[in-house]
Amino acid sequence: MTPKERVVATFESRFGQHPTAVIRSPGRVNLIGDHTDYNDGFVLPLAIDRAVWLALRPRTDRMVRAWTELMDDTIEFSLDSLARGGGWVAYLQGVANELLQLGDELVGWDGVIASDIPSGAGLSSSAALELGVARAFANASELKWEPVEAALLCQRAENDWVGVSCGIMDQLICSVGEVDRAMLIDCRDLSRQAVRLPDSVVVVILDTGTRRDLVDSMYNERRESCEAVARLFGVRALRDLSMDRLESDRGKLAAVAYRRAHHVISENARTVEMAERLAGNHVIEAGCLMGQSHISLRDDFEVSSPALDAMTAAALDSPGCLGARMTGGGFGGSCVALVATDHLEKFQAEVLERYRASAGPLGSVINTKATSGTSIVPVD
Ligand code: GLA
Repeated sequence: MTPKERVVATFESRFGQHPTAVIRSPGRVNLIGDHTDYNDGFVLPLAIDRAVWLALRPRTDRMVRAWTELMDDTIEFSLDSLARGGGWVAYLQGVANELLQLGDELVGWDGVIASDIPSGAGLSSSAALELGVARAFANASELKWEPVEAALLCQRAENDWVGVSCGIMDQLICSVGEVDRAMLIDCRDLSRQAVRLPDSVVVVILDTGTRRDLVDSMYNERRESCEAVARLFGVRALRDLSMDRLESDRGKLAAVAYRRAHHVISENARTVEMAERLAGNHVIEAGCLMGQSHISLRDDFEVSSPALDAMTAAALDSPGCLGARMTGGGFGGSCVALVATDHLEKFQAEVLERYRASAGPLGSVINTKATSGTSIVPVD
């Protein structure tokens, strides 16, 4: 059964009725531009064909009852008594809280949630869940759906309720993704440019199988150190600092702070250039930029890991690989590779063998394609 069929069937067996709506909310992979979003910079992600699925039926009262396949767990809460706490309920309550802050009239809903996005793999399963939940509330309460506003709302839920100071990339691409296109996003004004992926290449996700604790605190610490450099230079964000100025005033900074800023400034330039290269079908140059991005994230921003380095190396050594890098927040999770379409089978046959030879038994390959953002799909 597909995840969609599963949420519909489970809804019927748990709640004894048909759902009135089914929502699909995709995960994402970022081609280039990591740790740039919260510096008002550029990112180039795509929404993937792995998603959170949510079947729902509005209620007439203010209760939310949801069952999730992932945890085999039901949660139940009233919109009149939201309480901060951990676990997956925080995503639902955080989104509800933000909607209530806007003064929206909300009704509750019964729901069943399933997902085929591996969690902790750096593919934004939480942003997908947040957007899916926002869409569920919008559907149940007949609110107007504004994809960009919804992404901002879900980001606030993650910042204020879940406690991760994430940027806007994940929520925005999950919300506004487009079929066959990556999206160059200017994270300052949220303007977007869809970039068609050339037919000659395939985006391949390489999950290292490694997951790391304490990622949230390391993430928040990286963000703070970027903001400290921006303050020191008197600019609004690192987006506004030029490489020339960083280099000429390098003496003002501790070595680590210099490296963090060096990553962000160089990564912004690479991201804009990669969008141009892909749009112009220059896939070899695009692949080179991914390689430079990995080195910068590894050496300057220090968010890679031995497993991410091993997977990147395994990808680069495999047939047809044009470029590879860690993707997302880092410390564990996944890499992304750009692979020549006509070498895909050979690439897949070799990459895990190479990775496992150097890094141990884990790892998996997820073929992907760019899909549309969070949407309501026919129930059938
Ligand atoms: C996580 C965050 C994003 C972004 C990436 C790194 O995925 O949620 O906002 O900062 O890390 O690029």
